[in-house]
Amino acid sequence: MDLKGKHFLTTEDWTKEELDFMFERAFELKEKFYKGEDTLYLLWKTLFMIFFEQSTRTRNSMEAGMTQLGGHAHDLTADKMQLSHGESAKDTAIILSRMGHGIASRNCFYGIGKDYLAEMARWSSKPVMSLQDDVYHPFQGIADLMTIFEKFGKNTKGLKVTISWAYADTHAKPLSVPQTQILLFPRYGIDVTVAHPKEFPLSSYIVEKAKKNAEEGGGSLTFTNNMDEAFEGAQIVIPKNWGGFGYYGVQEYLDNEEEISKQMKADLEKHKDWICDRRRINLADKDVKLMHALPADRNHEVTDEVIDDENISIVYDEAENRLHTAKAIMSLTM
Ligand code: CP
Repeated sequence: MDLKGKHFLTTEDWTKEELDFMFERAFELKEKFYKGEDTLYLLWKTLFMIFFEQSTRTRNSMEAGMTQLGGHAHDLTADKMQLSHGESAKDTAIILSRMGHGIASRNCFYGIGKDYLAEMARWSSKPVMSLQDDVYHPFQGIADLMTIFEKFGKNTKGLKVTISWAYADTHAKPLSVPQTQILLFPRYGIDVTVAHPKEFPLSSYIVEKAKKNAEEGGGSLTFTNNMDEAFEGAQIVIPKNWGGFGYYGVQEYLDNEEEISKQMKADLEKHKDWICDRRRINLADKDVKLMHALPADRNHEVTDEVIDDENISIVYDEAENRLHTAKAIMSLTM
């Protein structure tokens, strides 16, 4: 299968066959990483990474990944570039794609990020990868699925996964992680339950698309406003905060950002009891696993007791798989 030049902006643009091919590469790369074997698929090649926000896992999985594939990644931020003086996404993409072999960017500004990445992809002559935007986080989604395959096997039909909103006071986190998960997991036959307070829905057009994916993939998608109910019998729980962006239209948000941000903060404070703790874990399947994209807001989203319980928590495997899946995507597309 030839995936050279293919953008990776969302898993939605990749067929299941293409994703499965990529997972094969990720497992091969992981095995070779442990054996210390060379994987010089991208010898002398250059990736330009542009971060508009902070990152630990994404930045380092991409940069370490490029080194391990024989190439190099430039770790750029907007303030180091003429982007800060208003240079366009078009000019930036054309120029960087003439100098290297791939462009990757994180831009999570609500109502802007996905379109910014799409504009770069439109003009770049090399593959463009989303390192997270306001709608999608495709690299997180594939690392999550690889981790699920490792722990539960590749036949995931009927697996019960609960994605629950949880309280956090660090910052208004994007919708992109849960939205990527509800789009991707049901394509693999997984039964997904999403729990959230009514003020924190996901974007309705993503939910509609995810329902279609579930019909086609043999999985299911169920919603509730009750966190306890969602935990009952779950084999995997993913408690994670996201902002209340989905409650508002994009234009409504952009026109009233300050006022809406204040309202979201007020709504957030009503739901401090949305936490993954031992009581809720006891409602789930006896062999339940905890996943989280990280960084976790400890003792708000999930208690230390649960996230540090090695019989339950697989968050570090999930984070490590960001490396192997990133290498798979880069080695196949660049
Ligand atoms: N999960 C994730 O994307 O982590 P970073 O924000 O550290 O990249």
